[in-house]
Amino acid sequence: GKSGYDHFMLKEIHEQPTALRQCLSGRLDPLEGEVVVDELTNLDTPERVQFVACGTSYHAALYGAHRFREAGIPAQAFLASEYSTAAPPIGDGELVIGVTQSGETADTLSALRTAQGHGAKTLAVTNVVGSTAARECDHVMFIRSGPEIGVAATKTFSSQLVSLSLLVESVAPDVSGSRTRDLVDSLRNLAGNVQSVLDDAEDINELVDEVAGSDAYFFIGRGYNAPVALEGALKFKEITYEHAEGFPAGELKHGPLALISEDTPVFAIVTGDDAAARKSLGNIKEVQARGAPVIAVTDGVLEVERFSDSLLRIPKMEGPMSSLLANVQLQLVAYEMAAHLDRPIDKPRNLAKSVTVE
Ligand code: F6R
Repeated sequence: GKSGYDHFMLKEIHEQPTALRQCLSGRLDPLEGEVVVDELTNLDTPERVQFVACGTSYHAALYGAHRFREAGIPAQAFLASEYSTAAPPIGDGELVIGVTQSGETADTLSALRTAQGHGAKTLAVTNVVGSTAARECDHVMFIRSGPEIGVAATKTFSSQLVSLSLLVESVAPDVSGSRTRDLVDSLRNLAGNVQSVLDDAEDINELVDEVAGSDAYFFIGRGYNAPVALEGALKFKEITYEHAEGFPAGELKHGPLALISEDTPVFAIVTGDDAAARKSLGNIKEVQARGAPVIAVTDGVLEVERFSDSLLRIPKMEGPMSSLLANVQLQLVAYEMAAHLDRPIDKPRNLAKSVTVE
């Protein structure tokens, strides 16, 4: 059942602290600052990585590819439906990773089969033990979210981000000596920080009342937050039926800026205070100058507050996990807007939980 929640989606959003603890259980060694994933002990360090995935899982794949590249391993994410049409060359030591919570998405299975046909080693990152992807791939890693009923993927996305982070630490040598340790420290605080986001959500209703009825909704972010911008928009359009688009923030001025007006609220995800965050602040100023209401999803560094009309605050976390917190915040925004508009949240029109045709 829905355990007292109005929708499975809201229940699953609130299950994230538990899902993340399950995902991490037995996989962190805080004393040594190490990551131990039993399923991956036989997986060698790949020379290059190609991700294949669809929809929300593709956004997780973009995040995973970013993490691999930072760890010094060339990596790229492909939309599974495009991969087979123009398959990229597969070199020696290539690992092709299918990210698919169901393990049954036809496009992803087809891309994985294409990769196998070209001689690649494959890894499935999935939630479902015994799924087709789990059975057909050479290796499998389970994201351990527990079953997800709502058509809109929420807790599985968070568990995918964490699983892909564990994967990188498991197979990519840590030449810096501190990368894995920093991640382990941040993962230990993750479930608690997600809980704080869920507990402090009361501003969202007010915000939704304010911006409902706009022409369109845009989502921008850079670096780790670019996939979150795409995911924020996908979730929003899926369940509210409102027009929403996500962009890596740097792409704004290459076209989408033409759409920005007083009737297009922009959700800007800005975390940390690195170069990516400073550049995102520049993008916020650009859209504000054109009259768009800016809603910053931020841990409150830099002067984001000064240039934003509304703030959705997330706890401060060093490193890549802050993107996961921002995403939880945006799940709540999509949910509250859909509830406000009285949409059938758990079963949006035209969509299915598992897409088993290409
Ligand atoms: C969106 C959503 C879909 C799936 C996509 C892939 O909320 O759930 O975009 O992410 O259909 O599904 P899996 O991960 O099962 O391969």
